[in-house]
Amino acid sequence: MTQSPDFRTARIPLNNGTTQIPALGFGTLIPDPAITLSATKDALEAGFRHFDCAERYRNEREVGDALQTGLAAGGISREDLFITTKLWNSNHRPERVEPAFNASLARLKLDYLDLYLIHTPFAFQPGDEQDPRDEHGNVIYDRGVTLLDTWRALESLVDHGKCRAIGLSDIGLNDLVPLYESARIKPAVVQVESHPYLPETELLEFCKEKGIVLLAFAPLGHGMKPGLLEDPVITAVAVRVGKTPAQVLLAWAVQRGTALLTTPKSAARARENFNISALPEDAFGEISRIQTRQRLNDVVNTGSPGFIPRVKAI
Ligand SMILES: NC(=O)c1ccc[n+]([C@@H]2O[C@H](COP(=O)([O-])OP(=O)(O)OC[C@H]3O[C@@H](n4cnc5c(N)ncnc54)[C@H](OP(=O)(O)O)[C@@H]3O)[C@@H](O)[C@H]2O)c1
Repeated sequence: MTQSPDFRTARIPLNNGTTQIPALGFGTLIPDPAITLSATKDALEAGFRHFDCAERYRNEREVGDALQTGLAAGGISREDLFITTKLWNSNHRPERVEPAFNASLARLKLDYLDLYLIHTPFAFQPGDEQDPRDEHGNVIYDRGVTLLDTWRALESLVDHGKCRAIGLSDIGLNDLVPLYESARIKPAVVQVESHPYLPETELLEFCKEKGIVLLAFAPLGHGMKPGLLEDPVITAVAVRVGKTPAQVLLAWAVQRGTALLTTPKSAARARENFNISALPEDAFGEISRIQTRQRLNDVVNTGSPGFIPRVKAI
């Protein structure tokens, strides 16, 4: 990756040969529509140029409105932005992929996407119900479509110039390796939960070897307390380098060669989370040696989204 001590403008080249992904990304998993709108505008104003969306977040319209406001204000062009959205589990059947893609594009008010991801490798019963359940409350999976079938449909979106790169999310090496080997267009990005408690080192090594960018979600441990933001190693490094714990965690993620997604919901936090620079090597090493291991989101095991509930400190 092209690394500079100032990470605010760091971009990582994608394997499509034409695009670079800004290392610092803003995630739009925000349930409240009004907060989606204000937080997206604040992120744009703070300097974020990479926005991560999903049909499953049900707020692409509000993200699109915020982006259009930013573009209309001048000073930023569409080419300055890197915009991703994701295909949901109930749209894995190949004939559902292009309509789902076009619907996302319309809601976002865009005419192309920089990146389109398969949100999870789990296919759910096809249809407009995003969370299909049987009478016992169990998810209804779709055994009639393979991940490769869906991937082929994403490849044809690239062929038709509708998106510049494609990738996967919530996937482990067991599913990624065979998909990678069979893919005509190789995945450009893999988005997974990753932070010092879940470094995903083996996956990161595979991705680096194959020229795939690992895009880390929950780099702040989803802000959960107790958690990473209060980890004694992180807080000690923060004091030493004169940064906040959030800035230290985000810098660590960029420094190890991943891109990241963070979701500040106020203008002040957007500025804080964007103002990231390289850590001294010893501090970087101390964080990399943290031994605590914790997965916060179970989506990778089931395809059903959601952070594992835990008690937040008062
Ligand atoms: N592919 C997937 O399945 C998947 C799953 C989850 C997330 N994602 C993507 O990843 C994005 C980021 O995930 P995430 O929300 O877990 O990211 P995160 O940045 O680790 O956590 C966000 C939470 O941290 C808190 N926070 C943010 N900035 C802070 C700061 N400077 N100091 C203290 N606390 C701070 C906020 O809490 P408050 O609410 O108190 O402001 C916020 O809700 C999502 O928006 C989404 O785009 C993808």
